[in-house]
Amino acid sequence: MATIAQHDQTGRRESGAAPQRFQMYIGGQFVDAAGGGTFDVFDPATEQVMATCPAGTAADVDRAARAAHRAFYEVWRGTSAQERGRVLFRLAERVRARRAELAELETRNSGKPIAEAEFDMDDTATCFEYYAGLATKINGDVLPVPVPAVALAMREPMGVAGQIIPWNYPLLMAAWKLGPALAAGCTVVLKPAEQTPLSVLRLASDFEAVGLPPGVVNIVTGDGPSAGAPLVAHPMVRKIAFTGSADVGRQIMRNAADQLKRVSLELGGKSPNIFFSDADFESAIDGALFGVFINQGEVCSAGSRVLVQRDIYKKFVDAAAAKAKTIRVGSGLDRANKMGPLVSAEQRDRVVQYLRVGAREGKVAAGGGVPASHTRGWFVEPTIFYDVDNGARIAQEEIFGPVMSVIPFTDEADAIRIANATQYGLAAAVWTRDIFKAFRVVRELEAGIVWVNHMQPTMVEAPWGGYKASGFGRELGRWGVEEYLETKQVFINLDEKPIGWY
Ligand code: NAI
Ligand code: MG
Repeated sequence: MATIAQHDQTGRRESGAAPQRFQMYIGGQFVDAAGGGTFDVFDPATEQVMATCPAGTAADVDRAARAAHRAFYEVWRGTSAQERGRVLFRLAERVRARRAELAELETRNSGKPIAEAEFDMDDTATCFEYYAGLATKINGDVLPVPVPAVALAMREPMGVAGQIIPWNYPLLMAAWKLGPALAAGCTVVLKPAEQTPLSVLRLASDFEAVGLPPGVVNIVTGDGPSAGAPLVAHPMVRKIAFTGSADVGRQIMRNAADQLKRVSLELGGKSPNIFFSDADFESAIDGALFGVFINQGEVCSAGSRVLVQRDIYKKFVDAAAAKAKTIRVGSGLDRANKMGPLVSAEQRDRVVQYLRVGAREGKVAAGGGVPASHTRGWFVEPTIFYDVDNGARIAQEEIFGPVMSVIPFTDEADAIRIANATQYGLAAAVWTRDIFKAFRVVRELEAGIVWVNHMQPTMVEAPWGGYKASGFGRELGRWGVEEYLETKQVFINLDEKPIGWY
């Protein structure tokens, strides 16, 4: 590894420059890890080290949790909802003002096409704005009781929230977690994914200026076992919000059990994208490709199982394959490229393993390997397997890469049966011009999000989360803020001579 560049939290890395040294953010200060360790952060299009970050451990998590605990009791829970909202509005303004810079950093670090990163920055700002507005609309209830009393349900912030996020939408996932927590009045220790910690650390350089008091948001960088696990175990952390793999979700639930810590989990899936023969054909092809190839397929709600009615099946596979072959793969910084590299060598290897499995389990219509044109970068070809049995591994296991499995079905009942035959239940989509059929199928699908004649648009106003092994709890909308609130029942006696038993 090259020598460490002079510390510059907001500077730009010239290409070929030494890796930039980032620090984590605890108690309002940029700091190194207590143990002094660092880890490398890569540019997946070049395989070069672009930055180093502190390797956080239990000691850093402890410092961050204490800072968050103090900030909760001394400042944030007593800060008015109006003021919390204003802070979030200012944070949104900063994201908009720094859109180009943050998007470029996101693309360099995660690999995604720059247009998608720009879209993410807009979504990030919109998310902060939504929760800025919602902060003043969190209120309790007055309940009708049959005695002379006022009965109230008060809503109160839970306290310190631990938030563990993945690498596919680095800054956007931070916003989905920070927005509702801060609106609710919680303070936060956020652990970004070790692959992609840069954009949120960059944004943290604005936290003080937007009026976030020290300790309200703390960012600890590090990997899952060293930094994530101690966050789950920390006694001052009241709740863990997690997005990532089902395996880690299970571990988190187990580790949170001792302290009966609240947990919300968003764990991805194997979402069906269902095409009836009466769907608009051109839109259907686009919808199938967009549904699974956006963000290189590294999407929790990826429509990775494409279910196609038999009478259009052959034509559909041919058209989808022809179009998939035109998708330009390359550095996300080049606007001509519509698909970037996968986030890490590890993820590329995982996906390539599935390509080998898929070659045995199905037939290849497009892709199936790594592009020969690239000697560097963790690229994978957009791949379509067809004649896949729904019981196959490539139809049941989350691949998290640009891999589509096409499965034929006969009729409505068959489509529903196949769609639901998975342990997961995050998302689904159904394409048809028959509104009656669409709604019959919607009602039968076991999924937390169902699109009709589209797949993937995600609105901050609407709830997001899974059925079955895709986790529980809901993010976004008013549901998102519920995850950070406790409910206190208050009974105020109005009877001057209340009667007891004795
Ligand atoms: P992961 O689930 O290991 O990582 C997600 C986050 O959890 C990261 O911040 C990581 O540091 C943290 N983490 C890992 N182990 C932990 C532990 N024991 N305690 C607390 N935190 C921990 O995901 P990974 O390994 O990067 O990807 C593996 C697979 O997971 C992917 O191929 C994909 O199938 C799935 N995944 C799903 C995502 C989703 O959006 N639902 C996002 C990322 C990955
Ligand atoms: Mg992992």
